[in-house]
Amino acid sequence: MSSNEKLDLASPNFVNENFEKLASLFPNCVTESADGKAIDFDLLKQELSHEVVEGNKERYRLEWPGKREAIVTANLPTTKTLRPVREDSVDFDNTENLYIEGDNLEVLKLLQESYLGKVKMIYIDPPYNTGGDFVYKDNFTKDTQEELLDSGQKDEYSQRLVVNPETGGRFHSDWLSMMYPRLKLARNLLASDGVVYISIDDNEIHNLRKICDEIFGIDNSRGTIIRSTGTRMGSGNKDISSEVDYVLIYSKSSEFEFSPLSMSEDDLKIYDQHDEKGRYLTRSLRRTGGENRREDRPSMFYPVFSPDGTEVYPLAPEGWESRWVCGKETYERLLSEGMIEWKRVPKDGKDEWKIYQKHYIGEAVKYASNSWDNIEGNKKATREVNKLFDGMKYFNHPKPVDFLSRILAISNLEKNEIVLDFFSGSGSTAHAVINSNAKDLQNIRFIQVQLPEPTSEKSEAFKAGYKNICEIGKERIRRASKKIKEETKADIDYGFRVYRLDDSNMQDVYYKPQEYAQDSLELFSDNVKPDRTADDLLAQVMLDWGLPLSLKIEQKTIEGKHVFKVSENSLYACFDDGIDEVFAKTIAKDQPLRIVFKDSGFKDDTAKTNVKQLLKQLSPETEMKVI
Ligand SMILES: C[S@@+](CC[C@H](N)C(=O)[O-])C[C@H]1O[C@@H](n2cnc3c(N)ncnc32)[C@H](O)[C@@H]1O
Repeated sequence: MSSNEKLDLASPNFVNENFEKLASLFPNCVTESADGKAIDFDLLKQELSHEVVEGNKERYRLEWPGKREAIVTANLPTTKTLRPVREDSVDFDNTENLYIEGDNLEVLKLLQESYLGKVKMIYIDPPYNTGGDFVYKDNFTKDTQEELLDSGQKDEYSQRLVVNPETGGRFHSDWLSMMYPRLKLARNLLASDGVVYISIDDNEIHNLRKICDEIFGIDNSRGTIIRSTGTRMGSGNKDISSEVDYVLIYSKSSEFEFSPLSMSEDDLKIYDQHDEKGRYLTRSLRRTGGENRREDRPSMFYPVFSPDGTEVYPLAPEGWESRWVCGKETYERLLSEGMIEWKRVPKDGKDEWKIYQKHYIGEAVKYASNSWDNIEGNKKATREVNKLFDGMKYFNHPKPVDFLSRILAISNLEKNEIVLDFFSGSGSTAHAVINSNAKDLQNIRFIQVQLPEPTSEKSEAFKAGYKNICEIGKERIRRASKKIKEETKADIDYGFRVYRLDDSNMQDVYYKPQEYAQDSLELFSDNVKPDRTADDLLAQVMLDWGLPLSLKIEQKTIEGKHVFKVSENSLYACFDDGIDEVFAKTIAKDQPLRIVFKDSGFKDDTAKTNVKQLLKQLSPETEMKVI
């Protein structure tokens, strides 16, 4: 007996079999429930009835189990914070670019105040949900969270990042629950003339479009780009193989306008004539294509006069009455501006007059179309990243810099505006931003967010010391910057500040004072966790106060104390001990707008009261806070 014929002694799973039978008869009744794949009995009832069956109210919207939870997830506050990592940063004090390590949901929450309405462009390239993708689980129970806290962050990330198989029964629901709160939070960060681009493929494009229509508003849907990936996917199977993916575009409001692309020499070839005003092309003044009959626009049928005085009407070559492209008044204007050209063209063995409108190159703009098939493909992108890492392959599926550069080019970015990518992977978006800054010195600033997703222990990346994707991303940006600097010598910001998501800087008692008896409070005379530095506290204060993390930070010693000066006098921060009246008087001379101390940092209680009073008197504009 061959192994195929071996008797299966396990009893057949009738429930599964029944499910499959119903599913093949009524595929429209298959749905996803909180517990996995399910049959929608209301719909099944309807299929079996000639009358309309009463049931839940019908609405036009996309639902999935977990949608309401996803909304709650977006609105829940976070107790986490961002801690600066100076040693991984490049030019920490002066750069205005950010690289943030951590789950993007928490990070987006932390950025809500400081970056509300401040981001011009967002590009994201989330997991496409292909069946083998890792999708981050947000809705963890309290118990699991506590368990994970004990085992540390790294474990938390790898345990929360779980494969989402198609057979899982919550395949689309889990992906949607992951995307929905992130997109909601991202929208808040967009400026009123901001725009978001989302890469996606066939697996979820329909669902993504639905939630984006809901989150951004259907009127703000600004198109779908079809991008040639340059790679045939799924070769070896007999289905239509896919060589494209898509980019959905949504704006925050109608204020966003695309910018035109510069024309290539190839595009410009059509401007094949010139005169003293420059290069131009000519187009027939008679309307061609649709709606080109006299009756379509009667006011655009009128005689014009050729150079020898003959009357010319808009007639089609076959002789029927057509029309001009404009009314008489516009024609007169074009004529007086020298924008009309007559040519003698042969017809039936004779020459006849034909009239054209001139279009000069100066007015020529070209807006992007939705078909992007003439740009670098994915293979080239991988090769380029590998080249930066001396030929080693450390990251799979980076997006081409060329493709991201084109997205930047159509986004109407102005000097100093911010570009955010919160699924940043190997840092292709940052690479494209640095590239474009080196060309046009626009000083566009980037924010990259990336989960420290552990690399597989078998991977080349891991063996080379890149233990998670953030390590690869940061190094890629360092190397790309170096290369661009060498090649262009452009004087731009090549740095980035690294921040890492971590739990709060404050002792738990700070958040849950009700759980401690009054006398045990003594134990917490300093409410800051012992491993936290002044740099950590500064980042927290900046976020709490809604100040962008990219502001310039200077460090000074004033009256023997270490003081951070953020963006001139926007914020002074001193977390040293022994704050007293002398210090307050000196500081007040600079008239800082905001100042912050540690609650336990004052010399004594009297000093605390006096410092407050002194600042009020000597620098009345200063807002003082303690943490
Ligand atoms: C398709 S890749 C992006 C590739 C990127 N566009 C590039 O060119 O390198 C998606 C990335 O999102 C990251 N990611 C997944 N879930 C995340 C989360 N919750 N927070 C932050 N990053 C996440 C993954 O680690 C992965 O590197």
